[in-house]
Amino acid sequence: MARALAPGGQLWSIEYEPRHAEVARANLAAAGVADRATVLVGAGRDVLPTLEAHAPFDVVFIDADKISYDHYGRWALDHLRPGGLVLGDNAYLFGELLDNTDRGRAMRGFHELVAARCDSVCAPTPEGLVIGIKR
Ligand SMILES: C[S@@+](CC[C@H](N)C(=O)[O-])C[C@H]1O[C@@H](n2cnc3c(N)ncnc32)[C@H](O)[C@@H]1O
Repeated sequence: MARALAPGGQLWSIEYEPRHAEVARANLAAAGVADRATVLVGAGRDVLPTLEAHAPFDVVFIDADKISYDHYGRWALDHLRPGGLVLGDNAYLFGELLDNTDRGRAMRGFHELVAARCDSVCAPTPEGLVIGIKR
């Protein structure tokens, strides 16, 4: 993603586990893109508001705690530019998408939200990938 940025573009990533963030930073440095990628440590729900000054965004990629996908999806659609891209990995929820659980409800809410506010598709990768272009 960092390599695909337009000149001057910036990528922010949020990671809850400090050790995972360290590994991500090391990989970004090894790939030569540390100058355009920032890894922030904390829970997505807490850190996302600190990024709002940089909105509107071109792309939001969601791949964290599944119980928060509806929250992350709403945040993404509120802070993407029209024509911006929202991506949600693991959209089949490991076979639990239709379960009557908080995770199932959150993921179904994410699908519904993206379908309502985007031109969208759920691509049949093994894990399911929601792809939405904000209207
Ligand atoms: C599937 S991995 C992400 C992989 C990454 N997209 C990649 O391609 O390398 C999910 C990550 O989300 C992190 N995570 C879990 N809950 C989180 C939360 N509430 N806020 C931020 N990150 C969280 C986990 O620690 C884990 O490192």
